[in-house]
Amino acid sequence: MFGYRSSGPRLSLTSPRMQIRTVAERDGWLLTDYYQENRDFLMPWEPLRDESYFHHHGWDARLHVMTTQQKQGDAFYFLLMDPAAQQVWGVANFTQVIRGCFQACYLGYSLAGAQQGNGLMHEALTTLIPVLQKQQQLHRIMANYMPRNQRSGALLARLGFEKEGYARDYLKINGRWEDHVLTALVTPTPD
Ligand SMILES: CC(C)(COP(=O)(O)OP(=O)(O)OC[C@H]1O[C@@H](n2cnc3c(N)ncnc32)[C@H](O)[C@@H]1OP(=O)(O)O)[C@@H](O)C(=O)NCCC(=O)NCCS
Repeated sequence: MFGYRSSGPRLSLTSPRMQIRTVAERDGWLLTDYYQENRDFLMPWEPLRDESYFHHHGWDARLHVMTTQQKQGDAFYFLLMDPAAQQVWGVANFTQVIRGCFQACYLGYSLAGAQQGNGLMHEALTTLIPVLQKQQQLHRIMANYMPRNQRSGALLARLGFEKEGYARDYLKINGRWEDHVLTALVTPTPD
């Protein structure tokens, strides 16, 4: 359930192998550890990260913005954590929520190098997506991947995301504009 505190709406869920929760303003150390430890692993798949991603104090301002967005229902940033909730194994972010007649958002995610290939991101997203679809009335969740990111493409296909297009030079990943396959998961409309 979404609960409300001064820092914004909070959602905590348990999946078979993880504790999953929205970020809070105090999470700077956890996120610094995650991005430091996985800096080289994530580099080919992500935008070039500002140095502030790798220092605790760099997270203060960013977490303030992120929790403000959560409070306003504009984005939801999730930490995927070990069962004791001591370490971040990955992140899943539902951002740029657009309301009104669109009810849509973008999904982005990453998992620690040490946690790859165990079905954890699928487990996290099958836990999160139905809750967000229902509680935030998200009708369209969009996720895009580089054609060579086969693991991400396979994950999205397994989750039911459908290919909708192909965009040239769509996102600047690791310093280069890269083509992306565009996909979306649309909540079925009852007849
Ligand atoms: C994309 C990414 C999140 C996928 O994470 P993941 O947890 O490995 O993905 P899944 O949950 O789909 O797991 C599937 C893998 O787990 C294996 N697996 C093991 N146990 C499993 C289980 N119980 N259930 C399902 N799959 C299982 C599958 O065989 C598959 O392995 P394979 O890819 O070697 O064939 C991850 O590779 C990543 O962080 N990549 C770098 C960042 C990135 O690309 N982000 C996305 C940009 S679009």
